[in-house]
Amino acid sequence: MKPFEVRNAHFDRLVNTPDLRWMGQNTNHAKPHAAVIEAMERCIRDEEFHVYAPPAGLEELRQGIVSDLDLKDHAALVSDGAVSSLYHVCHTLLQPGDEFITTDPTWNWPMAFARSVGATVKQIPIYGAEYGYRLAPERLAAAITPKTRIVYLVDPNNPLGTACTSAEIESIAAIAKAAGAYLIHDCTYRHFAHSHELAAKHYPDRTLTIYSFSKWLGLAGLRVGAVVADPDLIERLAGSPPNNLGSSILSQRAALAGLKIKSEWFPGVLTQQRANQKLINDAVTRIPGLEMPVYPSNGNFIIIECEKAGVKPEALVAAFQERKIMIRQGAYHTPTFGDRFIKVSTSVPSLWVEEFVALLPAMVERARGRNEPVKLF
Ligand SMILES: Cc1ncc(COP(=O)(O)O)c(C=O)c1O
Repeated sequence: MKPFEVRNAHFDRLVNTPDLRWMGQNTNHAKPHAAVIEAMERCIRDEEFHVYAPPAGLEELRQGIVSDLDLKDHAALVSDGAVSSLYHVCHTLLQPGDEFITTDPTWNWPMAFARSVGATVKQIPIYGAEYGYRLAPERLAAAITPKTRIVYLVDPNNPLGTACTSAEIESIAAIAKAAGAYLIHDCTYRHFAHSHELAAKHYPDRTLTIYSFSKWLGLAGLRVGAVVADPDLIERLAGSPPNNLGSSILSQRAALAGLKIKSEWFPGVLTQQRANQKLINDAVTRIPGLEMPVYPSNGNFIIIECEKAGVKPEALVAAFQERKIMIRQGAYHTPTFGDRFIKVSTSVPSLWVEEFVALLPAMVERARGRNEPVKLF
């Protein structure tokens, strides 16, 4: 089997495991609002799926995304999830020899997209108390060069859960602007943040805001998101998009219905998610050697450091996997710091979190000293 097949078989097994507790991919398992289900049922009943959706997305959805971000002078290009927007932007804006700067840890796929077009990737380490688990703008200023074409900022950061302050965003935008670089502000987790500032407000010409419906609305399997930017930039992107025949109409109907019920539905999801973070934090403080360095998290996930407990993240993940609980090893995000932590998603039923915390002491014991390689992705 080729490596991609091994990886695929792994995820296929997970998808086909009944009652798996999905606590590793920051997906959202909150009960959907009835209006979102109805919108999809209507789309199927009316057999709306025979047609192609408009190439840039349903107009009402495009406008809904722009107003959700309150970026009135910007335009949205709907995509098959945020990852498709990131692929599209990297392939359109980067050329061989360009430089792509991001943090370590970051979300890895855009680095692969940048490398695939011949760009070089530079990562600024932000893991650890010495960095406060965040990007100090001065460190970006020191790293940026005339070759830097894209600064890729995941904010709130996945996996760390830190979010930039308004002042930090203002500085980061100014640094990107002074270098003439594009700033990709990946705001996939924005809705979970305690407070969040959009870089596009400070650097509207060349900031690309990445939007997802996978996390706040829980539509990961439907694949719908967007890139939002200055209309001239969107015009350029719209010239050769991967989804020129439109994104899934079913997904767009669900997303649109979601935006309409957001203010009534999402606050409850957020409260539950934050209560789940607290349950985990309480449990972690009772176990010697475990720590949650970022709490509360601005994402729908938290990291737990397990190095001082003498536990390898992979062994802990494997132990939980035997109990049908999927969590993520740090190495998924970063080879440099991956030995230190696991990541656990919190936009899930509280029952799952209760199971997780009840098992945690025993799983730590089970994982301790187990260093045999486990195949994880
Ligand atoms: C930072 C970040 N950006 C983008 C994505 C992908 O989002 P989507 O499901 O909308 O493609 C993820 C998914 O985990 C992510 O963590």
